[in-house]
Amino acid sequence: MKTAVIYASRYGSTEKYAKWIAEELGANLLPAGDVSPADLDGYGVIVYGGGLYAGRVNGISLLTKNLGRVGDKKLFLFTVGLIDVSIPKNVETLQSGLKKTLPPALYEKLRLYHFRGGMYLSKMGFFHRLVMKIMTNMLRKQPESALSESDRAMLNSFGFGQDVDFTDRAAIGPLVADVKAAQSAL
Ligand SMILES: Cc1cc2nc3c(=O)[nH]c(=O)nc-3n(C[C@H](O)[C@H](O)[C@H](O)COP(=O)(O)O)c2cc1C
Repeated sequence: MKTAVIYASRYGSTEKYAKWIAEELGANLLPAGDVSPADLDGYGVIVYGGGLYAGRVNGISLLTKNLGRVGDKKLFLFTVGLIDVSIPKNVETLQSGLKKTLPPALYEKLRLYHFRGGMYLSKMGFFHRLVMKIMTNMLRKQPESALSESDRAMLNSFGFGQDVDFTDRAAIGPLVADVKAAQSAL
């Protein structure tokens, strides 16, 4: 059965990871917006990637609304966010948030991977700039010691008006290895 790497990306970092993964796997690369529910039927393995926005995965409704179609497939989810996923506590918080927002039947089927994206002020539209302004104003009121590493990255990026980019091709290694193992078990 074929493998699809499907992604939803606002500023390009999830797209970058999706391209790297599809290249390593020789899989079909598809933007989520171009995928119809019926298209999912043609794949035995689906790798879905989405940027994190307020703790939610961009475009994940493609899976949540089509559980009947994807329930019997090998499913891999990767998220891309500013949060530093080399810190186990951050991963724990992220996963417990996903567990609360995703349907249990889907959450249990997914293998999860988390990658770092960035903050792309130069590309940001009005609404996201406004959200970031509110968030950074709130963070500035907190004592330095209370800030997490990702809070600081956000403040550095927004506060100094600079783009930050933590994308790292090497991070996809474990996901690629797990997908290859799943493909050979089919
Ligand atoms: C409004 C807004 C909300 C965000 N919320 C989160 C978040 O909850 N967790 C996180 O780790 N990153 C968050 N980010 C950072 C994005 O996930 C990050 O920029 C990511 O690289 C975006 O991926 P994309 O360019 O593929 O859409 C947020 C960014 C914006 C603009």
